[in-house]
Amino acid sequence: MRIDVLTIFPEMFPAVLDASMVGLARERDLLDVHVHNLRDWAHDRHRTTDDYPYGGGPGMVMKPEPLFEAVDQIRSETPVSGRVIFFTPAGRVLDQDLAEELAREDRLILVCGRYEGFDERALSLADLELSVGDYVLTGGEVPAMIVIDVVARLIPGVLGHELSAVDESFTSGLLEYPQYTRPPVYRGMEVPEVLLSGDHARIARWRREQSIRKTARLRPDLVERAELTDDERRAADQETSRCRDHAEEGPPDE
Ligand SMILES: C[S@@+](CC[C@H](N)C(=O)[O-])C[C@H]1O[C@@H](n2cnc3c(N)ncnc32)[C@H](O)[C@@H]1O
Repeated sequence: MRIDVLTIFPEMFPAVLDASMVGLARERDLLDVHVHNLRDWAHDRHRTTDDYPYGGGPGMVMKPEPLFEAVDQIRSETPVSGRVIFFTPAGRVLDQDLAEELAREDRLILVCGRYEGFDERALSLADLELSVGDYVLTGGEVPAMIVIDVVARLIPGVLGHELSAVDESFTSGLLEYPQYTRPPVYRGMEVPEVLLSGDHARIARWRREQSIRKTARLRPDLVERAELTDDERRAADQETSRCRDHAEEGPPDE
């Protein structure tokens, strides 16, 4: 997969692109990332990419000309024109389903905003306006890194263990079961006996049950959409109402 990033802060990217799984994906030629400085498409000697907002108001707005020219040129560099993503807090919120959809693309072009965001006309270039959550960051660079990271680990051959991504939170519609490693007892806290039993069928059942209970406790909204058997649904509902009752009781009286 090829990913192009358009930013006025290209220097933010090397650490993320060189480390860990993303670095490995690039080393193995499974991921090809090109970071472009939007200022290369500016029209003046100060390499200006922003201007005052029409109508007044605080802050600056990203000018349309460098964005249009950069996206046109970057798109034309390969026969696959790619899916153009503009980062904005007003966009569709990224989740695991969307990440899986993006990981199936041959090429992504990620456009990072700054200041008060983009001139509205530039958004006509976007195939997707994407948010990484309901909060406002200073720029689209961290969201671009999030997309690169989430997509890289879904590319076949990137994760050491092919099943690692299959079992995880959100992939099955549920949160992942609790994980433990050595030592078996730490500060009086014991690893559940079933995990030391070597009985793989029992372990699988325990993990499924824990996964459902944890999701019911922490994210009841996900449980509603998950595929569960009737028994599992009953257990999840019990866990959700147990947590609700507990929360309504409040802290114990002094
Ligand atoms: C300070 S923000 C602009 C916020 C804009 N004035 C608004 O109220 O929607 C600057 C840039 O950061 C990026 N950004 C900030 N928060 C984001 C989020 N939650 N998801 C994706 N991009 C975000 C966008 O590219 C945005 O253009």
